[in-house]
Amino acid sequence: MERVYNFSAGPSILPEPVLRKAQKEMLSYGQTGMSVMEMSHRSSHYQEIIDAAEQLLRELMQIPNNYKVLFLQGGASSQFAMIPLNLFRQSKKADYVITGVWAKKAYQEASRYGTVNIVGSSEDKTFSYIPELDKSKFDSQADYFYITTNNTIYGTRYTTLPDTENVPLVADMSSNILSQVYDVSKFGVIFAGAQKNMGPAGLTVVIIQEDLIGNQMDITPTMFNYKTHADAGSMFNTPPTYSIYICKLVLEWLKELGGISVMEQMNIEKAKILYDFLDSSSIFKGTAAKKDRSLMNIPFVSNSEELNAKFIKEATAKGLVNLKGHRSVGGMRASIYNAMPIEGVEALVSFMKQFEMENR
Ligand SMILES: Cc1ncc(COP(=O)(O)O)c(C=O)c1O
Repeated sequence: MERVYNFSAGPSILPEPVLRKAQKEMLSYGQTGMSVMEMSHRSSHYQEIIDAAEQLLRELMQIPNNYKVLFLQGGASSQFAMIPLNLFRQSKKADYVITGVWAKKAYQEASRYGTVNIVGSSEDKTFSYIPELDKSKFDSQADYFYITTNNTIYGTRYTTLPDTENVPLVADMSSNILSQVYDVSKFGVIFAGAQKNMGPAGLTVVIIQEDLIGNQMDITPTMFNYKTHADAGSMFNTPPTYSIYICKLVLEWLKELGGISVMEQMNIEKAKILYDFLDSSSIFKGTAAKKDRSLMNIPFVSNSEELNAKFIKEATAKGLVNLKGHRSVGGMRASIYNAMPIEGVEALVSFMKQFEMENR
């Protein structure tokens, strides 16, 4: 079967050249006579792979030397606990902005270990916008300040970062890491589940300022202690070897394309095609506040539930798949991560135009 345009929110589309390279190296990686999946993580061949992945990520994101890069497991959801367990080191207080269910889950988890203050929320309007933040509500004694840079379900993103002064900014970047240029030095911790913009599920990447490592709470399990993984070069136990290898291929692909700033321009262009159409359509409309629109996840609705269902069914038949919105919000959502070619977005918009003419 031909490949489809996969608009899944995650796990999601991977660059085709990456899949082809993995296919080529499947039976024998280099001269090893075995696949990466079959390789000891302690072998020199594997060490080269993980080192290259880290080096590429450092280069692409311009990660300063005083930050560690960790390749972990447990998904972004494990970070909801690891963050407080490791960062509650003085006041045991933290500020959270609730911009979606992922931020809310992170907040609930952190509440188990310390005093957590909500400094902004957009729950009143189904998280369809990023709330204005009042700096006077920020706690200057907080151990950290937590945001979700891109809200996968609702299609919003921060266009400016909150100014938290000396309080380390912690960001769940699961759905927009590598999609736009960020100044890593503005963050204490960045984490991301890999399964959207970095590679397959099973890998969670953490970028953390060294000073924030080694202050874990006493109850922190060994595996949830950043120091455990930082000291062992992400090899304390068996890392998600194959996912790291694919991540390395994704990073090579991104570098070859020109890096994150080039990718950001491509993402702006791709998103504009869909947003421009949504803004001019008579039956479709975007659901996120215009000022906060995501470049990665674009939720939209038509005039009725029936039409939504018909649209999803007919789009699927045309090879435009996984357009159903998250079960908590309904409607449609097109996730157009880095790996989605512009042709995929054009094909979607062209089908939407045709659907609109037929169903006006
Ligand atoms: C922004 C964000 N944070 C966290 C998660 C949870 O990630 P995981 O399934 O890796 O725990 C997701 C999953 O979609 C997400 O989009």
